[in-house]
Amino acid sequence: MHSILRATKRLNLWHGAVRSGKTVASLIRFAEYLATAPPGPVLIAAKTERSLKRNILDVLASWLPPSAIRVNYGKGEAQILGRTVYLASANDERSETKLRGVTLAGAYGDEITTWPESFFRQLLARLSIPGAAFFGTTNPDSPRHWLKRDFLDRANTLDLAAFHFSLFDNPYLSPAYIEALKREYTGLWYRRYILGQWVAAEGVIFDSFDPSRHVTPIPPFTGNPRHVAGIDYGTSNPTCFIAVAYTHPQGPYYAIAEHYYDPAKTLRQRTDEEHLDALQAFIQTLHPPPEAIYFDPSAASLSAAALRRSLPLRKADNRVLEGIRFLHSLFTQDKLFIHPSCQTLIDQLVCYSWDPKAQEKGEDKPLKQDDHSVDSLRYCLVSHFSRPLGTLPKPKAL
Ligand SMILES: Nc1ncnc2c1ncn2[C@@H]1O[C@H](COP(=O)(O)OP(=O)(O)OP(=O)(O)O)[C@@H](O)[C@H]1O
Ligand SMILES: [Mg+2]
Repeated sequence: MHSILRATKRLNLWHGAVRSGKTVASLIRFAEYLATAPPGPVLIAAKTERSLKRNILDVLASWLPPSAIRVNYGKGEAQILGRTVYLASANDERSETKLRGVTLAGAYGDEITTWPESFFRQLLARLSIPGAAFFGTTNPDSPRHWLKRDFLDRANTLDLAAFHFSLFDNPYLSPAYIEALKREYTGLWYRRYILGQWVAAEGVIFDSFDPSRHVTPIPPFTGNPRHVAGIDYGTSNPTCFIAVAYTHPQGPYYAIAEHYYDPAKTLRQRTDEEHLDALQAFIQTLHPPPEAIYFDPSAASLSAAALRRSLPLRKADNRVLEGIRFLHSLFTQDKLFIHPSCQTLIDQLVCYSWDPKAQEKGEDKPLKQDDHSVDSLRYCLVSHFSRPLGTLPKPKAL
């Protein structure tokens, strides 16, 4: 809470672990700023309109009397404590153009590392009223991220106050909730989202995958399994199917079979109908048949051809980083096992690595290599079993 008193610079950044109290502390300071800042409009920005409402406006509305906050979402404006507040989402490079020409007395931002750098820089340029200040929060990212390299690491030379939080700094979270968060964020994500460290995504991605433990011919459960499947589809690239068995929706999950077709090896591309014939043959080996088969949403021609057959095809959730994090946490918790016959999948899990070139630019990206089996596994597990965006429910206000 000392951060509220010390956030008196032109730039004030709260960075660190999830659920650590950054938003609460920074918004208390920002509400105070709204009441005392130089006259003029201010701006509130978040990655999306949804996060702007949920993470910022709803919180302010829960504190202030109804007469002190009026939001007009259609117009993208609000009146808060008698001041005009522009609302902006910073979700792509174009959003920066929306800021041009505005003169601001202050601004507040959420999830800053997810913003295009151009948006952040343009926003700072708009804070031209004397005494104007920026307040914002973020989770850590790569140490080479522009916000870390050009701002946090240069706090001494800039008019900038930075406040760092780890999850253990928030005394209002129950031990059970902290334990649940630790299970969800493992490895790289543990260091970033629990400890609040700026660490690089380097080396092998699934360092939690241990073939001596996670590759097993024996199902990790008893009882009759249910099935789901994932497809990564390519015309000139390989096409892969993975089948996953489970008895309980919370896991463990067991990748029991794979089908891998590489046109470069056979020197022949398969038609969509041939792919679907292969898929039908693949799922006929599963008893009971899969409840759902998740496919890459970009495989439009395949889904059109599949409509003519009664296959339970569904579009996969293909958010790469969220999916990778989910699989990583499953291996860490010993909730995901692979049958030895899934040899391509095992090889790819061992080799799957972060791209060092992207990391130099502060971006987390897997190296583009043979990853079709991993993608198929990710599609079906994430789409069928992972919680939607926001993962764990937020704790109730205390
Ligand atoms: N001083 C406080 N008094 C009461 N509750 C608090 C306090 N600080 C934090 N909390 C509670 O802790 C939870 C997490 O706080 P907050 O939303 O500020 O975290 P955050 O660091 O912004 O997290 P994220 O990175 O996930 O956005 C909130 O639900 C809030 O109710
Ligand atoms: Mg927050």
